[in-house]
Amino acid sequence: MRRITLTRFLIERQRETQGINADLRLLIETVARACKAISHAVGKGAVGGMLGSADTDNIQGEVQKKLDILSNEILLEANEWGGNLAALASEEMEHPHPIPTHFPKGEYLLLFDPLDGSSNIDVNVSIGTIFSVLRCPKGADGTVGDPGEAEFLQPGTQQVAAGFAVYGPSTVLVLTIGHGTHGFTLDREMGSFVLTHPNIRIPEDTAEFAINMSNMRHWEAPIKRYVEECLAGKTGARGKDFNMRWVASMVSDVYRILTRGGIFMYPRDAKNKVGRLRLMYEANPMAMIIEQAGGAATDGKTRMLSVQPEGLHQRVAVILGSKNEVDRVTRYHHE
Ligand code: AHG
Ligand code: MN
Ligand code: MN
Repeated sequence: MRRITLTRFLIERQRETQGINADLRLLIETVARACKAISHAVGKGAVGGMLGSADTDNIQGEVQKKLDILSNEILLEANEWGGNLAALASEEMEHPHPIPTHFPKGEYLLLFDPLDGSSNIDVNVSIGTIFSVLRCPKGADGTVGDPGEAEFLQPGTQQVAAGFAVYGPSTVLVLTIGHGTHGFTLDREMGSFVLTHPNIRIPEDTAEFAINMSNMRHWEAPIKRYVEECLAGKTGARGKDFNMRWVASMVSDVYRILTRGGIFMYPRDAKNKVGRLRLMYEANPMAMIIEQAGGAATDGKTRMLSVQPEGLHQRVAVILGSKNEVDRVTRYHHE
Protein backbone atom coordinates (compact mmCIF):
# COMPACT_ATOMS: atom_id res chain seq x y z
CA MET A 1 0.00 0.00 0.00
CA ARG A 2 1.26 3.48 -0.87
CA ARG A 3 2.14 5.22 2.38
CA ILE A 4 1.63 8.97 2.40
CA THR A 5 3.37 10.74 5.24
CA LEU A 6 2.44 14.25 6.34
CA THR A 7 5.68 15.52 4.73
CA ARG A 8 4.79 13.96 1.38
CA PHE A 9 1.18 15.17 1.63
CA LEU A 10 2.34 18.74 2.21
CA ILE A 11 5.02 18.70 -0.49
CA GLU A 12 2.45 17.41 -2.99
CA ARG A 13 0.03 20.17 -1.94
CA GLN A 14 2.85 22.68 -2.42
CA ARG A 15 3.54 21.36 -5.95
CA GLU A 16 -0.13 21.64 -6.84
CA THR A 17 -0.04 25.19 -5.37
CA GLN A 18 -3.18 24.32 -3.40
CA GLY A 19 -2.95 27.35 -1.15
CA ILE A 20 0.35 26.32 0.40
CA ASN A 21 3.87 27.66 -0.02
CA ALA A 22 7.17 26.51 1.48
CA ASP A 23 6.76 28.71 4.58
CA LEU A 24 3.31 27.38 5.41
CA ARG A 25 4.51 23.83 4.80
CA LEU A 26 7.41 24.29 7.24
CA LEU A 27 5.04 25.87 9.75
CA ILE A 28 2.61 22.93 9.66
CA GLU A 29 5.45 20.41 9.84
CA THR A 30 6.93 22.22 12.82
CA VAL A 31 3.61 22.24 14.66
CA ALA A 32 3.23 18.53 13.89
CA ARG A 33 6.72 17.88 15.27
CA ALA A 34 5.83 19.78 18.45
CA CYS A 35 2.67 17.66 18.75
CA LYS A 36 4.85 14.55 18.57
CA ALA A 37 6.95 15.87 21.45
CA ILE A 38 3.80 16.67 23.46
CA SER A 39 2.39 13.21 22.65
CA HIS A 40 5.61 11.69 23.98
CA ALA A 41 5.41 13.72 27.22
CA VAL A 42 1.71 12.88 27.66
CA GLY A 43 2.49 9.19 27.19
CA LYS A 44 4.94 9.20 30.08
CA GLY A 45 2.17 10.11 32.53
CA ALA A 46 2.95 9.70 36.21
CA VAL A 47 6.28 7.94 35.48
CA GLY A 48 7.60 11.11 33.84
CA GLY A 49 6.18 13.34 36.59
CA MET A 50 3.80 14.86 34.02
CA LEU A 51 0.59 14.87 36.08
CA GLY A 52 -0.79 17.44 38.47
CA SER A 53 -1.03 21.21 38.83
CA ALA A 54 1.73 23.76 38.42
CA ASP A 55 0.38 26.06 41.18
CA THR A 56 -0.04 28.95 38.71
CA ASP A 57 -3.11 30.54 37.11
CA ASN A 58 -3.41 31.47 33.44
CA ILE A 59 -4.91 34.69 32.09
CA GLN A 60 -8.44 33.25 32.34
CA GLY A 61 -7.93 32.52 36.04
CA GLU A 62 -7.76 28.76 35.46
CA VAL A 63 -5.26 26.69 37.42
CA GLN A 64 -2.51 25.57 35.04
CA LYS A 65 -1.47 21.95 34.89
CA LYS A 66 2.19 21.01 34.45
CA LEU A 67 1.33 19.73 30.97
CA ASP A 68 -0.39 23.03 30.00
CA ILE A 69 2.88 24.83 30.64
CA LEU A 70 5.17 22.20 29.13
CA SER A 71 3.05 21.95 25.95
CA ASN A 72 3.05 25.73 25.62
CA GLU A 73 6.85 25.80 25.93
CA ILE A 74 7.29 22.99 23.40
CA LEU A 75 5.14 24.85 20.85
CA LEU A 76 6.89 28.19 21.42
CA GLU A 77 10.39 26.73 21.18
CA ALA A 78 9.60 24.69 18.08
CA ASN A 79 8.07 27.60 16.19
CA GLU A 80 10.18 30.63 17.10
CA TRP A 81 13.19 30.06 14.88
CA GLY A 82 11.74 28.96 11.50
CA GLY A 83 11.48 32.44 9.98
CA ASN A 84 7.88 31.85 8.89
CA LEU A 85 6.04 33.54 11.78
CA ALA A 86 5.44 37.17 12.70
CA ALA A 87 4.15 36.31 16.21
CA LEU A 88 2.41 33.59 18.23
CA ALA A 89 -0.56 33.64 20.60
CA SER A 90 -1.61 31.03 23.13
CA GLU A 91 -4.51 30.34 25.45
CA GLU A 92 -1.90 30.18 28.21
CA MET A 93 -0.30 33.62 27.60
CA GLU A 94 -1.93 37.00 28.21
CA HIS A 95 -0.23 38.79 25.31
CA PRO A 96 1.03 37.73 21.87
CA HIS A 97 4.51 36.24 21.96
CA PRO A 98 6.96 38.15 19.70
CA ILE A 99 9.62 36.41 17.62
CA PRO A 100 12.97 36.88 19.43
CA THR A 101 15.01 39.58 17.65
CA HIS A 102 17.84 37.21 16.70
CA PHE A 103 15.46 35.17 14.47
CA PRO A 104 14.01 36.27 11.13
CA LYS A 105 10.29 37.00 10.87
CA GLY A 106 7.76 35.67 8.38
CA GLU A 107 4.24 36.44 7.25
CA TYR A 108 2.15 34.09 9.42
CA LEU A 109 0.52 34.24 12.84
CA LEU A 110 0.15 31.04 14.84
CA LEU A 111 -2.48 30.61 17.58
CA PHE A 112 -2.88 27.58 19.81
CA ASP A 113 -4.53 25.87 22.71
CA PRO A 114 -1.43 23.90 23.74
CA LEU A 115 -3.28 21.36 25.85
CA ASP A 116 -7.01 20.94 25.40
CA GLY A 117 -8.95 18.94 27.97
CA SER A 118 -6.73 19.74 30.97
CA SER A 119 -9.24 18.27 33.42
CA ASN A 120 -8.66 14.88 31.77
CA ILE A 121 -4.84 14.80 32.19
CA ASP A 122 -4.75 13.22 35.62
CA VAL A 123 -7.52 10.72 34.87
CA ASN A 124 -5.79 9.32 31.76
CA VAL A 125 -8.48 10.34 29.27
CA SER A 126 -7.62 11.66 25.78
CA ILE A 127 -6.39 15.26 25.50
CA GLY A 128 -4.99 17.28 22.61
CA THR A 129 -3.60 20.42 20.98
CA ILE A 130 -5.53 22.84 18.72
CA PHE A 131 -3.96 25.38 16.33
CA SER A 132 -4.91 28.05 13.83
CA VAL A 133 -2.84 29.95 11.24
CA LEU A 134 -3.57 33.47 10.01
CA ARG A 135 -1.70 35.84 7.69
CA CYS A 136 -0.19 38.86 9.42
CA PRO A 137 -1.38 42.17 7.96
CA LYS A 138 1.54 44.24 6.67
CA GLY A 139 2.17 47.87 7.63
CA ALA A 140 2.57 50.84 5.28
CA ASP A 141 6.27 49.95 4.86
CA GLY A 142 5.33 46.52 3.52
CA THR A 143 6.69 44.60 6.54
CA VAL A 144 4.90 42.75 9.33
CA GLY A 145 6.56 44.90 12.04
CA ASP A 146 5.82 43.92 15.64
CA PRO A 147 2.29 42.53 15.60
CA GLY A 148 0.16 43.17 18.67
CA GLU A 149 -3.25 41.83 19.66
CA ALA A 150 -5.01 43.83 16.91
CA GLU A 151 -3.27 41.92 14.10
CA PHE A 152 -4.67 38.65 15.48
CA LEU A 153 -8.28 39.81 15.62
CA GLN A 154 -9.34 38.43 12.25
CA PRO A 155 -12.51 36.42 11.63
CA GLY A 156 -12.12 32.66 11.17
CA THR A 157 -12.74 32.96 7.42
CA GLN A 158 -9.20 34.39 7.23
CA GLN A 159 -7.57 31.23 8.57
CA VAL A 160 -5.16 29.68 6.06
CA ALA A 161 -4.81 26.45 8.02
CA ALA A 162 -6.19 24.84 11.16
CA GLY A 163 -5.69 21.55 12.90
CA PHE A 164 -5.66 19.58 16.08
CA ALA A 165 -3.94 16.57 17.60
CA VAL A 166 -5.56 14.01 19.89
CA TYR A 167 -3.32 12.14 22.32
CA GLY A 168 -5.49 9.07 22.75
CA PRO A 169 -4.99 5.31 22.35
CA SER A 170 -3.31 6.46 19.13
CA THR A 171 -2.08 9.96 18.38
CA VAL A 172 -3.90 11.54 15.44
CA LEU A 173 -3.44 14.85 13.68
CA VAL A 174 -6.37 16.41 11.84
CA LEU A 175 -5.54 19.13 9.34
CA THR A 176 -7.16 21.48 6.86
CA ILE A 177 -5.45 23.93 4.53
CA GLY A 178 -8.79 24.92 3.02
CA HIS A 179 -9.13 21.92 0.68
CA GLY A 180 -10.92 19.29 2.75
CA THR A 181 -10.13 17.84 6.16
CA HIS A 182 -7.56 15.07 6.46
CA GLY A 183 -6.52 12.79 9.32
CA PHE A 184 -3.04 11.41 10.00
CA THR A 185 -2.09 8.74 12.54
CA LEU A 186 1.27 8.79 14.28
CA ASP A 187 3.40 5.75 13.51
CA ARG A 188 5.27 5.70 16.81
CA GLU A 189 8.06 3.40 15.59
CA MET A 190 8.81 5.49 12.49
CA GLY A 191 8.04 8.81 14.18
CA SER A 192 5.95 10.04 11.26
CA PHE A 193 2.32 10.99 10.73
CA VAL A 194 0.69 8.82 8.07
CA LEU A 195 -2.39 9.81 6.08
CA THR A 196 -5.04 7.39 7.32
CA HIS A 197 -8.23 9.45 6.95
CA PRO A 198 -8.17 11.40 3.66
CA ASN A 199 -11.11 13.70 2.85
CA ILE A 200 -13.14 13.18 5.99
CA ARG A 201 -16.90 13.72 5.48
CA ILE A 202 -19.30 14.23 8.38
CA PRO A 203 -22.74 12.65 7.87
CA GLU A 204 -25.39 15.40 7.60
CA ASP A 205 -27.76 13.60 9.96
CA THR A 206 -27.01 12.12 13.34
CA ALA A 207 -28.64 10.65 16.43
CA GLU A 208 -25.84 11.53 18.85
CA PHE A 209 -25.39 14.76 20.82
CA ALA A 210 -22.64 16.04 23.12
CA ILE A 211 -23.26 18.62 25.84
CA ASN A 212 -22.40 19.03 29.51
CA MET A 213 -25.84 18.10 30.91
CA SER A 214 -24.95 19.35 34.40
CA ASN A 215 -25.49 22.89 33.08
CA MET A 216 -29.07 22.12 31.97
CA ARG A 217 -30.74 24.37 34.51
CA HIS A 218 -28.66 27.31 33.25
CA TRP A 219 -29.42 26.86 29.53
CA GLU A 220 -31.36 29.24 27.30
CA ALA A 221 -34.68 28.12 25.79
CA PRO A 222 -33.44 27.00 22.32
CA ILE A 223 -30.87 24.58 23.78
CA LYS A 224 -33.38 23.27 26.34
CA ARG A 225 -35.86 22.65 23.56
CA TYR A 226 -33.34 20.87 21.34
CA VAL A 227 -32.02 18.56 24.08
CA GLU A 228 -35.50 17.84 25.46
CA GLU A 229 -36.59 16.77 21.98
CA CYS A 230 -33.55 14.47 21.75
CA LEU A 231 -34.31 12.98 25.16
CA ALA A 232 -37.95 12.39 24.24
CA GLY A 233 -36.74 9.87 21.66
CA LYS A 234 -38.96 7.80 19.36
CA THR A 235 -42.26 8.98 20.76
CA GLY A 236 -41.25 12.66 20.85
CA ALA A 237 -41.12 15.41 18.22
CA ARG A 238 -37.99 13.96 16.56
CA GLY A 239 -39.40 10.44 16.21
CA LYS A 240 -36.05 8.76 16.91
CA ASP A 241 -33.87 7.82 19.86
CA PHE A 242 -30.68 9.79 20.53
CA ASN A 243 -27.47 8.73 22.19
CA MET A 244 -25.25 11.03 24.27
CA ARG A 245 -21.46 11.37 24.68
CA TRP A 246 -19.37 13.98 26.57
CA VAL A 247 -15.61 13.45 26.86
CA ALA A 248 -14.91 16.97 28.21
CA SER A 249 -11.95 17.22 25.82
CA MET A 250 -13.17 19.17 22.80
CA VAL A 251 -10.53 17.48 20.63
CA SER A 252 -12.01 14.04 21.39
CA ASP A 253 -15.61 15.12 21.00
CA VAL A 254 -14.80 16.76 17.65
CA TYR A 255 -12.76 13.78 16.50
CA ARG A 256 -15.70 11.48 17.23
CA ILE A 257 -17.98 13.76 15.20
CA LEU A 258 -15.50 13.66 12.29
CA THR A 259 -15.50 9.87 12.55
CA ARG A 260 -19.23 9.08 12.82
CA GLY A 261 -21.18 12.34 12.98
CA GLY A 262 -22.88 14.06 15.89
CA ILE A 263 -23.50 17.50 17.33
CA PHE A 264 -21.34 19.24 19.95
CA MET A 265 -22.72 22.12 22.01
CA TYR A 266 -21.12 24.39 24.58
CA PRO A 267 -23.79 27.10 24.63
CA ARG A 268 -23.79 30.35 26.51
CA ASP A 269 -25.90 29.99 29.66
CA ALA A 270 -26.69 31.73 32.94
CA LYS A 271 -23.34 30.54 34.36
CA ASN A 272 -21.10 30.99 31.31
CA LYS A 273 -22.77 34.17 30.04
CA VAL A 274 -20.77 34.45 26.81
CA GLY A 275 -19.94 30.76 26.46
CA ARG A 276 -16.98 28.79 27.79
CA LEU A 277 -14.78 27.98 24.82
CA ARG A 278 -12.32 30.38 23.27
CA LEU A 279 -13.03 31.83 19.84
CA MET A 280 -9.43 32.14 18.65
CA TYR A 281 -7.92 28.90 19.96
CA GLU A 282 -10.85 26.49 19.96
CA ALA A 283 -13.99 27.63 18.13
CA ASN A 284 -12.45 29.06 14.94
CA PRO A 285 -9.97 26.29 14.13
CA MET A 286 -12.59 23.62 14.89
CA ALA A 287 -15.20 25.48 12.81
CA MET A 288 -12.89 25.52 9.79
CA ILE A 289 -12.08 21.82 10.20
CA ILE A 290 -15.76 20.93 10.57
CA GLU A 291 -16.89 23.04 7.59
CA GLN A 292 -14.15 21.58 5.42
CA ALA A 293 -15.54 18.14 6.29
CA GLY A 294 -19.07 19.11 5.24
CA GLY A 295 -20.37 19.99 8.71
CA ALA A 296 -21.49 23.33 10.15
CA ALA A 297 -20.47 25.54 13.08
CA THR A 298 -22.28 28.51 14.62
CA ASP A 299 -22.37 30.49 17.86
CA GLY A 300 -26.08 29.68 18.01
CA LYS A 301 -27.08 32.47 15.66
CA THR A 302 -24.17 33.30 13.35
CA ARG A 303 -21.73 31.24 11.31
CA MET A 304 -18.71 30.89 13.61
CA LEU A 305 -16.17 31.78 10.94
CA SER A 306 -17.77 35.17 10.31
CA VAL A 307 -17.74 36.32 13.96
CA GLN A 308 -15.53 39.42 14.25
CA PRO A 309 -13.21 38.85 17.24
CA GLU A 310 -12.89 41.61 19.82
CA GLY A 311 -10.29 40.10 22.12
CA LEU A 312 -7.59 37.46 21.93
CA HIS A 313 -9.08 35.45 24.79
CA GLN A 314 -12.72 36.06 23.90
CA ARG A 315 -15.14 33.27 24.76
CA VAL A 316 -18.03 32.22 22.57
CA ALA A 317 -20.94 29.77 22.41
CA VAL A 318 -20.17 26.80 20.17
CA ILE A 319 -22.60 24.57 18.23
CA LEU A 320 -20.90 22.34 15.66
CA GLY A 321 -21.11 19.04 13.82
CA SER A 322 -23.57 17.31 11.50
CA LYS A 323 -25.06 19.98 9.28
CA ASN A 324 -28.77 19.28 9.62
CA GLU A 325 -28.65 19.22 13.43
CA VAL A 326 -26.55 22.40 13.67
CA ASP A 327 -28.97 24.11 11.29
CA ARG A 328 -31.86 22.99 13.49
CA VAL A 329 -30.33 24.36 16.71
CA THR A 330 -29.46 27.59 14.93
CA ARG A 331 -33.04 27.83 13.64
CA TYR A 332 -34.38 27.35 17.21
CA HIS A 333 -32.25 30.34 18.27
CA HIS A 334 -33.96 32.51 15.65
CA GLU A 335 -37.53 31.32 16.34
P1 AHG B 1 -9.01 23.55 28.21
O1 AHG B 1 -8.55 22.28 28.85
O2 AHG B 1 -8.10 23.98 27.07
O3 AHG B 1 -9.27 24.66 29.19
O4 AHG B 1 -10.39 23.28 27.45
C1 AHG B 1 -11.36 22.46 28.02
C2 AHG B 1 -12.66 22.70 27.33
C3 AHG B 1 -12.98 21.72 26.22
O5 AHG B 1 -11.97 20.89 25.82
C4 AHG B 1 -14.14 20.91 26.74
O6 AHG B 1 -15.07 20.69 25.74
C5 AHG B 1 -14.71 21.73 27.85
O7 AHG B 1 -13.70 22.60 28.27
C6 AHG B 1 -15.17 20.89 29.00
O8 AHG B 1 -15.91 21.67 29.85
P2 AHG B 1 -16.65 21.06 31.16
O9 AHG B 1 -15.58 20.97 32.20
O10 AHG B 1 -17.71 22.06 31.46
O11 AHG B 1 -17.22 19.72 30.78
MN1 MN C 1 -9.19 23.91 25.31
MN1 MN D 1 -5.97 24.41 27.08
